[in-house]
Amino acid sequence: MKGIILAGGKATRLYPITKGVCKQLLPIYDKPMIYYPLSVLMLAGIREILVVSTPKDLPRFKDLLEEGKRLGIKISYAAQKEPQGIAQSLIIGEKFIADDSVCLVLGDNIFYGDQLVTLVQEAAGLEEGALIFGYSVKDPQRYGVIGFDKNSKVVSLEEKPNKPKSNWVTCGMYFYDNSAPKIARKLRPSARGELEINDLNKEYLRRGLLKVKLLGRGYAWLDTGTYDSLISASTFIKTIEDRQGLKIGCIEEVAYRMGYINKKQLARLADAVPTSYGEYLKDLLKDE
Ligand code: TTP
Repeated sequence: MKGIILAGGKATRLYPITKGVCKQLLPIYDKPMIYYPLSVLMLAGIREILVVSTPKDLPRFKDLLEEGKRLGIKISYAAQKEPQGIAQSLIIGEKFIADDSVCLVLGDNIFYGDQLVTLVQEAAGLEEGALIFGYSVKDPQRYGVIGFDKNSKVVSLEEKPNKPKSNWVTCGMYFYDNSAPKIARKLRPSARGELEINDLNKEYLRRGLLKVKLLGRGYAWLDTGTYDSLISASTFIKTIEDRQGLKIGCIEEVAYRMGYINKKQLARLADAVPTSYGEYLKDLLKDE
């Protein structure tokens, strides 16, 4: 399975912050936002990753992540000229996906939970259809809302409805079989001029090939698109990291624990970061 991180967009809800800086490079406590979705892909066992962003911001992501070699993975980059919808990233990534399946994750989504690693590793085994995740929120009208019949079967997906049919909404992480780019190509832009990921998921639903896994209250799914959610996410990460002494979304640690890099390589990464972040990586070496 390949991985795509979508890290473009305009981030207008964070203006003026994001007039000069790309949202997915903003800090979430002690690391850039994109580290969180990247670490989830790496934990899923996905080692070939495409970062899609605006032509203006792509060089900054390259500065940060390079080719991924130091993390034992392969990162490539592609531009989305205009933010014409989340589903467009599958068209942009069509050649990259080739004959593989793909996990698409939004660069501003943070996932955390006890069973997360098992969950994404199982999802990465997907061969046919699509697998998406649902999460219960108090403001479903801001998201893609999942409707169920009386047997809890998923029967509808509605983008930002005025009258949500449930509190369950789709998260920004989607696992697709190889037909996703082809389906994306057939989508028509929505009223807001975007190729909607919700429409792509609806096509899988229509074909009877959509699985929806609901994430219970033991999981945290945070999005970081507003001033408040940005600071809440930072506070959440800081609280857990301070308490446990363990980092969330630390891509160097994940690379090491997943066996993508060895001790020597981790030591080199640690030496390059002269902060408590680097000290944390050094301590991992001592623990062994
Ligand atoms: P949104 O939060 O819907 O859009 P945005 O980030 O541009 O923010 P705002 O509403 O404040 O203007 O996008 C979700 C994620 O997907 C986010 O990481 C940006 C990314 N994205 C793209 O990279 N390209 C796109 O065409 C769209 C629609 C989103």
